[in-house]
Amino acid sequence: MSEVTTAADNQSGDALENLLTENRRFAPSVEFAANAIIHGDEYSKANADRPAFWADQSRELLSWSKPFTKTLDWSNPPFATWFEDGEINAAYNALDRHVEAGNGDRVAIYFEGEPGDTRTYTYAQLTEEVKKAANAFETLGLIKGDRVAVYLPMIPEAVITLLACARIGAIHSVVFGGFSADALRSRVDDAQAKLVITADGTFRRGKPSSLKPAVDEALSAPGHSVQNVVVVKRNGQDVNWVEGRDVWWEDTVGTASTEHTAVGHPAEHPLFILYTSGTTGKPKGILHTTGGYLTQTAYTHRAVFDLHPETDVFWCTADVGWVTGHSYVTYAPLINGATQVMYEGTPDSPHQGRFWEIVQKYKVSILYTAPTAIRTFMKWGEDIPAKYDLSSIRLLGSVGEPINPEAWMWYRRVIGGDKAPIVDTWWQTETGAIMIAPLPGVTSAKPGSAQVPMPGIAVDVVDELGASVAHGHGGYLVIREPWPAMLRGIWGDNERYKETYWSRFDGMYFAGDGAKWDEDGDVWLLGRVDDVMNISGHRLSTTEIESALVSHPSVAEAAVVGAADETTGQAVVAFVILRGSAAEDADIVTTLRNHVGHEIGPIAKPKTILVVPELPKTRSGKIMRRLLKDVAEGRAVGDSSTLADNTVMNQIAESLRK
Ligand code: WTA
Repeated sequence: MSEVTTAADNQSGDALENLLTENRRFAPSVEFAANAIIHGDEYSKANADRPAFWADQSRELLSWSKPFTKTLDWSNPPFATWFEDGEINAAYNALDRHVEAGNGDRVAIYFEGEPGDTRTYTYAQLTEEVKKAANAFETLGLIKGDRVAVYLPMIPEAVITLLACARIGAIHSVVFGGFSADALRSRVDDAQAKLVITADGTFRRGKPSSLKPAVDEALSAPGHSVQNVVVVKRNGQDVNWVEGRDVWWEDTVGTASTEHTAVGHPAEHPLFILYTSGTTGKPKGILHTTGGYLTQTAYTHRAVFDLHPETDVFWCTADVGWVTGHSYVTYAPLINGATQVMYEGTPDSPHQGRFWEIVQKYKVSILYTAPTAIRTFMKWGEDIPAKYDLSSIRLLGSVGEPINPEAWMWYRRVIGGDKAPIVDTWWQTETGAIMIAPLPGVTSAKPGSAQVPMPGIAVDVVDELGASVAHGHGGYLVIREPWPAMLRGIWGDNERYKETYWSRFDGMYFAGDGAKWDEDGDVWLLGRVDDVMNISGHRLSTTEIESALVSHPSVAEAAVVGAADETTGQAVVAFVILRGSAAEDADIVTTLRNHVGHEIGPIAKPKTILVVPELPKTRSGKIMRRLLKDVAEGRAVGDSSTLADNTVMNQIAESLRK
């Protein structure tokens, strides 16, 4: 595998010390603990026989059309199967069964559009919509096992599409709406998608923002697998139309029958592919299957968020383009019969109080968001949330990146009224569901630490050689035993699956994160130890952005690092060597930023691009990103003795002074 920095490299020494001497504790209130879904010791029993624990959860939380008799098969590692001989339908579990149980009138989704339009779907109504979409997709020729690329904004049709695919056994592959046409095309090609579901566009900060043109561009070159493009009318923009290929959602789904019977699919039938950045330029299609994924997402949602479906209003602010929008918007809340809020827009549109206005309006009781958003709210000032009634909030969640204790304390005090427990949840696209988090009615919360492995999950921290480290020490985060929602592979690339996750340490899943046990045995996440960056909780690969930069004719070489950033956690900083006369072009930095935006998507645009004469390389030609990170973070440059040319760092410093 590629150069691995030590976990401690990712956080400056002082910051780490501060974190680990954190001694504030927030025990659940007596009242919270008394009413909590999980209030006793769930760990001993679960960890004594993990597969048995998950089998119990699965039977309790899901309705199987054919009950399973086998639990875990790990005879061919690292390929696991869970509940293999059972059959289950994800959409039936998320919808029909709640209606059959008499809860059809319960609100499933309160949708709030960016311009302020709203829609409410009860479970009965959402079930009908999904049945219609399933029928419409089948009419377009979609059959079980086919892949569907989904390129939609945060509107109810996104959830409807995913559940309709799951219902008929088609495999969805969501591509985040902020990704470019090129990114969409490479994902369509990799999965050989037959259908694309998109919208004319969405709204961003009060203005229409388009999606359909990117689909047209992606499919403009021949040789793709797409037969039809279904287009939701959302912002009313004019769109280009390809006769015979494009169909309006309202003409197909809108006119379809509301009768559709869900049949069970094998537990290991693929549910979805979701592409995520790895350490190479090529995104990995993370493959999830049905039974295990639904079991762990449902269990963790109930246990970690203490979900009381009759009374709670849950709001996960993640976009459906990321795994959090799959597990904790589309699947778990509906499987658990929750009422949830779905919001299309950004937190600052039309004003910086929008989130709090939504909390007040829908009486949100559980809010799940990302540290980057929390730090932004802190910057905007606490007088903004103070204008709204946030008294409905009883639990707060955090995901996507480490939450610094200062942000944690602010979140608790200002948003949580100094009483709502905070659950910091560590997991990944690959893990499918939450792996490390406090249990809010049990755990004494500690600001900044994700704390405890979930019941039934075997997390460990190991040293370079794979030996467990003692409490008080750091190393690499690994998972020692298979878990129900684990990825089943990388789409079409079993070798890469083994190589990426299972080759670093024998018999263990290597997560790519540095971590430390503190003296109490709580886990602290220390950031990535590979070439993956985390920008506002979104994963981006340094190599992918470097490839985008060098694909521009003005760039000879490029190196990208994730530099610490107060708000976004990390920010993309690129070092480029220009070709020929490009250095005289006054707009070159803007041109290159836009080029990256076009190649990958706006989220990948470097915050800073520094033009340099050379890049620091080892004798074997490997770029020493660690040294560039020192420059980008304004630190003294660390040990550069392995450089092929040890004057390079001086040359870079000299050029940046100019
Ligand atoms: C990081 C998002 C610290 C981590 C669900 C991981 C976190 C990557 C946390 C996965 C957390 C996620 N504390 N770091 N609570 N949650 N991460 O695949 O580096 O988009 O490997 O999944 O985000 O990002 P992904």
